[in-house]
Amino acid sequence: MILIGHNVRIIAKPGSRIVVSDIGILKIGINFMSDKQTVVYLGPQSALYVYSCEFMKGCHLVLMDYAKMYVGYNTYINEDSTVEVRSKLFIGNGSALSKQIYITDSDMHKIIENGKEKTHTSPIFIGNKVWIGLRSVVLKGVSIGNNTVVAANSTVVKNVAAGQVVAGMPAKVVKENVTWEY
Ligand SMILES: CC(C)(COP(=O)(O)OP(=O)(O)OC[C@H]1O[C@@H](n2cnc3c(N)ncnc32)[C@H](O)[C@@H]1OP(=O)(O)O)[C@@H](O)C(=O)NCCC(=O)NCCS
Repeated sequence: MILIGHNVRIIAKPGSRIVVSDIGILKIGINFMSDKQTVVYLGPQSALYVYSCEFMKGCHLVLMDYAKMYVGYNTYINEDSTVEVRSKLFIGNGSALSKQIYITDSDMHKIIENGKEKTHTSPIFIGNKVWIGLRSVVLKGVSIGNNTVVAANSTVVKNVAAGQVVAGMPAKVVKENVTWEY
C-alpha cells in the first residue's frame, strides 16, 4: 500500500518502479505538521524497494537513472531531508533519520588527482536501528552498522561500526558499545 499526502510530486520516468512489500506501507508526505512539498523523482529504470517506511513533508528523494534504493520496515526519514542516489542505497529496519539530513552516494563531480580520475559514486549501506541526528550528512561509499547514533550536524565520510556514537565533521567515534531507544 502507498499513502500519499497533500502537496506531493512524484515524477516517474520510463521503466522506473516503486515496489512495496505485500504487508508493508510506504507513506509519502502525510505528516500534518507542515504543508511543504515532498518530491520523489524516479529516473529511467530506477527502483525503490520498500518494506514499510515513511518519507515526511519536505523530503526530496531523487533516484537517478538505474539507481536502486532499498528500505526495510519501521524506518522513517524526517522533514526537509534530501536523499540522492546514483548507484545504490540500502537502509535497514527501525532506523530514524532526522530532519534536514542529506544522504548521497555520489560526489556528482569528478576529482582528478595526479591525472587519475577518482571514484565519485559508491553505494551506501545504513544498517538496522541507526539514528541519524539532525542536519547530518552521509557521503558516498560508507557503511553504518546496526544500533549506531550519528550525532546532530555530523558528516559521515568513513565506515561506522555497529554500536558506536559518531560525531563531528568529519564524524569520529565518541562512544562504543551503545544501543538506543525511541
Ligand atoms: C549524540 C547525542 C545523542 C548525545 O549522546 P551522548 O551519549 O549523551 O553523548 P555525550 O553528550 O556524552 O557526548 C559525548 C562526546 O561527543 C560530543 N558530541 C555530542 N554530540 C555532538 C555533536 N552533535 N557534534 C559534535 N560533538 C558532539 C560531546 O561533546 C562529547 O565530547 P567529549 O567526550 O570530548 O566531551 C546528542 O549530542 C545528539 O547529537 N543528539 C541528536 C539529536 C537529534 O538530532 N535529534 C533529532 C530528533 S530524531
